[in-house]
Amino acid sequence: MTRIGIIVGSTRPNRNSEKVARWVHDIASQRGDAEFELIDLRDHTLPHLDEPMPPSYGQYQNEHTKQWSATIAAFDGFVIASPEYNHGIPGVLKNALDYLYTEWTNKAVGFVTWGAVGGARAAEHLRTIAGELQMADVRRQVTLSLAADFEHYTEFAPGDHQAAAANAMLDQVITWSTALAPVRAAAAAA
Ligand SMILES: Cc1cc2nc3c(=O)[nH]c(=O)nc-3n(C[C@H](O)[C@H](O)[C@H](O)COP(=O)(O)O)c2cc1C
Repeated sequence: MTRIGIIVGSTRPNRNSEKVARWVHDIASQRGDAEFELIDLRDHTLPHLDEPMPPSYGQYQNEHTKQWSATIAAFDGFVIASPEYNHGIPGVLKNALDYLYTEWTNKAVGFVTWGAVGGARAAEHLRTIAGELQMADVRRQVTLSLAADFEHYTEFAPGDHQAAAANAMLDQVITWSTALAPVRAAAAAA
């Protein structure tokens, strides 16, 4: 079955990302068309990229990179739950994305973002990165408003319409992740 990893995109104390990612996981787990697992960046402590070779070479020297590579390689597609930090994404998330290359390629990715304007600028940042990693970023996304979908900016209370938005995004992620399986197989055999 298609395996989708849901990435918890921030690591600071009191983060909202864990609540949002768990909400996505709860919605996804009610579906029967794929398997879903949380990938918490707190469980994959990575220093600032410290590999001597570019990630696209896949010649990893460090144990933390090899472990991160094995984690990401096991999935067919991803949902990234990311806040907006200074009109971009958290450095810890960018670093985690930068660490690998082929483990991301030919896989679909959908976005759940939040911020003052739904994390829209973080989502656009992620789409630029996904293009360079040769990921298929889906159009449907979930944009959560800090004012409307959180109480006091910390208590996550998503609007009723947001579950439907999450499922619409998941529909596309699963369809494209599954459709790209032969492309991934051909790339692995080359
Ligand atoms: C370093 C930092 C920068 C931020 N910059 C923005 C921003 O540019 N735009 C925005 O809408 N919200 C911004 N925020 C607010 C965050 O989107 C909000 O606090 C969010 O809950 C942070 O996610 P987290 O709790 O998972 O870390 C920023 C927050 C932090 C900590």
